[in-house]
Amino acid sequence: TTAVIETDVLIVGSGPAGASAALFLSTLGVRNTMITKYRWTANTPRAHITNQRTMEIFRDMGIEDQVLADATPHHLMGDTVFCTAIAGEEIGRILTWGNHPARRADYELASPSMPCDIPQTYLEPILVRNATVRGTQTRFSTEYLGHTQDADGVNVRVLDRFAGTEYTIRARYLIGADGARSQVAADIGLPYEGRMDIAGSMNITFKADLSALCGHRPSVLYWVIQPGADIGGIGAGLVRMVRPWNEWLVVWGFDIDQGPPEVTDEDAAGIVRNLVGAPDLDVEITGVSLWGNNEQYATGLQHGRVFCAGDAVHKHPPSNGLGSNTSVQDSYNLAWKIAAVLQGHAGAGLLETYTTERAPVARQIVTRANTSAREFGALFTALGLDTATDAEQMQERLEERKDDTPAGAAKRAAVREAMALKNYEFNAHGVELGQHYDASESAAVVGDGTPRPEPTRDPELYYDPSTHPGARLPHVWVGDSNRRRSTHDLAAYEGFTLLTGVTGEPWAAAAQKAAAELGVAVRPVVIGPGREVTDLYFDWAERCGVAEDGAVLVRPDKHVGWRSHHLVDDPERELLGVLRRILDRT
Ligand code: FDA
Repeated sequence: TTAVIETDVLIVGSGPAGASAALFLSTLGVRNTMITKYRWTANTPRAHITNQRTMEIFRDMGIEDQVLADATPHHLMGDTVFCTAIAGEEIGRILTWGNHPARRADYELASPSMPCDIPQTYLEPILVRNATVRGTQTRFSTEYLGHTQDADGVNVRVLDRFAGTEYTIRARYLIGADGARSQVAADIGLPYEGRMDIAGSMNITFKADLSALCGHRPSVLYWVIQPGADIGGIGAGLVRMVRPWNEWLVVWGFDIDQGPPEVTDEDAAGIVRNLVGAPDLDVEITGVSLWGNNEQYATGLQHGRVFCAGDAVHKHPPSNGLGSNTSVQDSYNLAWKIAAVLQGHAGAGLLETYTTERAPVARQIVTRANTSAREFGALFTALGLDTATDAEQMQERLEERKDDTPAGAAKRAAVREAMALKNYEFNAHGVELGQHYDASESAAVVGDGTPRPEPTRDPELYYDPSTHPGARLPHVWVGDSNRRRSTHDLAAYEGFTLLTGVTGEPWAAAAQKAAAELGVAVRPVVIGPGREVTDLYFDWAERCGVAEDGAVLVRPDKHVGWRSHHLVDDPERELLGVLRRILDRT
């Protein structure tokens, strides 16, 4: 009964970080086991906004269609309303998540995949199913208890909660994807900055048919400004669509210094009816849970053979919808590196770039999400609600914005300005797609001597495509007369890809030789007429950032590892040097 079970990678948690890590590793042919504490996946909708970067990753895994089939589509996501109640008065709207016609162009130009809305209750089963079908050993009702590590691996003690028995799993690597209260992170003593539980929030899930109130202004979010809406919580009261238009989730704040409130189903129904603005609403409360807002990120993500990903390393409110997205993206960064080391293609130094690349992202998104929640304050101030002491006064202040007076005009202008600020939460395209791994920090990016290009527009709101080393590969459509493919479709997760043009063809032969020498996959793709794909709309020429005889080396995770502006005398030697550096090969 004390037989030790062996695996190459043990993953703790089946949330977005864990289940996607399992999927990526199985897709790469790495033996892995995923354990999770409960007998099934997430039991509440939780994260839902799924951004383009994540959809591209799902596309790469061949599961984009499955996700879209269960998701609310992009065009129903974004007529986002700010109001005194859903059935009450509108203060204003923002077209969000790229639904403004002007912004939709930015989103469509930037990626082969559009955002969608899929609650975790729908997403996790897709990830777990595909991971398991591809090879993951998935163990439900199995709890991580602790671990020890030595030079060759990690011994993990687990509890089978069904049988009530403990056993040990021996793994080469351990990934702690066990959420914001990560035991794995605590056990390896990950360093953190910031604080947990800075404000109190409650989630109320309910069923009610709101199609008559929402169908004509479809959005995943309806923000409600009411007395108490700026206490705790995520900036204002929120009624969030789970399924259009009969399943919902309310987020409402409470004063965390007063301790956790007791919320009965009747209290919950009262809050729902207030926010909807329908005192007689026929509502079925399906759940109430309390949670603390966090503003905390890890500055190191690894200790020896143990890594943490997802909420374990970035803890923040749902503002900007970055939690699940960033969790998937962490694992996408980590899994190919672990696979490369396990398969003997890379030295262990490559694993250290997980921290150098992802810790800055953790800091960035925690800061962004918390800033977004706070920036609702500007709207309360603009409306004069920050100093209103009761509901009646609040109503008076709201009425003032209708006045034909200089004060009324000033208030209307202030409201417009405060609303514009919310683009940083709901149209932050640069935050979503602009992640860049700096060559001065990451050894898995080789610089080309050029400085990172200065942003041409606000870098949080707008994404600037670039092949500067460390940037995400720009998407353009290439192909032939029969089909078009994204540049992302050319670059498989299973290896490196070298993109070049017709006069750069010697790079292709060099890539093949370098690949053979190092035993790694480096697929050359020549883009041009009569080649594997051609530059259908001449967009690649515009975006590739190098001359036709230059080359762009794309890593498995679709970030540029290196580029050469022109053909060089000995392209094979050049490429070998670069790949050795990226892969920590001596
Ligand atoms: P996640 O928390 O999803 O998963 C952790 C996994 O680890 C689970 O499978 C758990 O069972 C497992 N686990 C934990 N301890 C274990 C142990 N000792 N042994 C074995 N398994 C263990 N975000 C958002 O954008 N909008 C929203 O509305 C919400 N709402 C929301 C509500 C609630 C109640 C929560 C808890 C969270 C949210 N979030 C959210 C945040 C969002 O859910 C979060 O960012 C992602 O789920 C993070 O994914 P992870 O995979 O990192 O952790």
